[in-house]
Amino acid sequence: MSLSFIARSIAESPTLRLNEEAELLRQRGESVIHLGIGEPKNKAPINAILTSAAILSRADVKYCPTDGTPSLKKAIITYTEENYGKVPDPDNVIVCSGAKQAIFNLLYTILNPQDEVIILAPYWVSYPEMVRMALGVPVFVTPEDGGLHPRMKDIIEAVGSATKAIIVNSPNNPSGLVYSDEFMSEIVEFCEKRGIYLILDDIYHKLVFDSRRPTPCYEFTEKEIEDSRLIVINGISKLYGMTGFRIGWAIAPEKLVKVMTNVQSQVTSCPSVILQSAAEGALTGIQSIVESLRLTIENNRNIIMSELSAFNGVKVTKPGGTFYCLPDFSSYNKNSVELSEFLLRKALVVTVPGKEFGMEGHLRLSYAGSVREITEGITRIKWALDPNSPNEIYIGNRKLVRDWL
Ligand SMILES: Cc1ncc(COP(=O)(O)O)c(C=O)c1O
Repeated sequence: MSLSFIARSIAESPTLRLNEEAELLRQRGESVIHLGIGEPKNKAPINAILTSAAILSRADVKYCPTDGTPSLKKAIITYTEENYGKVPDPDNVIVCSGAKQAIFNLLYTILNPQDEVIILAPYWVSYPEMVRMALGVPVFVTPEDGGLHPRMKDIIEAVGSATKAIIVNSPNNPSGLVYSDEFMSEIVEFCEKRGIYLILDDIYHKLVFDSRRPTPCYEFTEKEIEDSRLIVINGISKLYGMTGFRIGWAIAPEKLVKVMTNVQSQVTSCPSVILQSAAEGALTGIQSIVESLRLTIENNRNIIMSELSAFNGVKVTKPGGTFYCLPDFSSYNKNSVELSEFLLRKALVVTVPGKEFGMEGHLRLSYAGSVREITEGITRIKWALDPNSPNEIYIGNRKLVRDWL
């Protein structure tokens, strides 16, 4: 079969593959614990359901402007004003089918072949593939001090004449780290000065803990959106637990939004108007749902931290946001793909190998699920790896005996 070299080079999304594997095991009746999943368990906000149901019940569902319905764009402008202290013009907003599509549209819009995009490790798995699909070159920057927080020094060393953009994702998937205000202010200043696009993937921006406030990046620039190099990506997937609704957006200078809209118009046209109306319902409805989700996740973060702190040989940095952490399991196995497969086979726990995020030796664990899943998941991992843990365990109603340590 003849396939393009670009298409052949694109890797499958490891997280989506793991979801499918876990689902297959579940269908076979296995008691799988999913610590790989990147979505909260809550139901969609009632207002989102009501607004989208109202559109459906009119049975008149047609195309709308490619860059989004005026009323959703209005809600996004209000959201941006309330959360970022900036009022974008409607021409600065494009609504897409998920933050993922917003990022891809943007990369496709700004990159010439061989342009470089700096990606900070650990990074979200889709960035490198999206850069490659847009014919750019991902340049990975890993903190030289072995930590998880990026350092300006390492970034400046990696920037060259071909650097077109830097992607920053804080709160970060997969580490859960919230980057310091000092770092954010430095990178904003650097990009504005050097004319490098700074793509701020803010999809987790309100899921922060310990009374922290989400860092509004516009605080660090004096430029207006129109003249700024900052592009903010956001969406409803994580904050409202509406992953299946597939609505995200970008806030960018009008010139960029125009071209992104052309790109989108030739690929998908507008995002579904039903789902846009659900997003509008979420953004304009009662916001306590976000806070209650945040509190649940913060409690889950505390539980997983206390479970992991009692795990011999595992090092973990406390996450300040998201629903992920990225413990270092290298004292058990330096090969994270091997380790993740082993844990799925032996303990029926889904984890995501750190290698996929540019952090070999680590595993990404999600605490978006229930307290029972978190505690049982970690108990199973301990049983599989730690010789000091009891060597018998019940998984479902089966008693398993560890015979490999
Ligand atoms: C860092 C990051 N950005 C973007 C996305 C995609 O968001 P959406 O569901 O809006 O496409 C995800 C989803 O996992 C993510 O983790």
